[in-house]
Amino acid sequence: CRVLVLISGNGSNLQAIIDGCDDHLDAEVIGVISNKPDAYGLIRAHHNEIDTSCVIVRKDESRPEYDARLKLAIDRYQPDLIVLAGFMRILSDEFVQGFEGKMINIHPSLLPKYTGLNTHQRAIDAKDKEHGASVHFVTPELDAGPVILQAKVPVYAEDTLDTLAERVHQQEHAIYPMVVKWFGQNRLKMADGCAYLDDIRL
Ligand code: GRF
Repeated sequence: CRVLVLISGNGSNLQAIIDGCDDHLDAEVIGVISNKPDAYGLIRAHHNEIDTSCVIVRKDESRPEYDARLKLAIDRYQPDLIVLAGFMRILSDEFVQGFEGKMINIHPSLLPKYTGLNTHQRAIDAKDKEHGASVHFVTPELDAGPVILQAKVPVYAEDTLDTLAERVHQQEHAIYPMVVKWFGQNRLKMADGCAYLDDIRL
């Protein structure tokens, strides 16, 4: 399975997926696209001899114009799966619909709780006892696609933004490669707005 990863920053999830793909033959990261030229994830890709592209937003460019250029860049790789890994840009409905069932995202909360930004701080402020990360299929509504896999972590009274974020990140690095592997093994599907693993609804 040809996996294309979209990033904007550090790329620690990209790294976990690259490392995970080393261990088995079901999936291979064949390219990385960033919307930021200085994303550290691009360096990670180079270290692993993975092709990279940057699609940087132009001044005065509309969202459909940007998304059309992004689609061209994506199509060049002929991916089976598009993995959003810290790609910090909202994508248009039309763009997302074009990749239905082929695009996944990781979000740092136990969805449907805390869609959007600042999830760790919101969990701390709400004095939640648990927090976590969710991998989901991408649908037009932000962070609302069917959830495939979640990992929970405890939230401790003494947690800071950094300690909690670090705990969640570690779990992200465990679950995201697992989901990519399932997809590569043809075990994962999206149908009628639901996610299925081995034909069992998740
Ligand atoms: C992760 O926390 C992920 O949940 C969110 O963006 C962050 C990306 O981190 N979507 P990294 O670039 O993979 O280190």
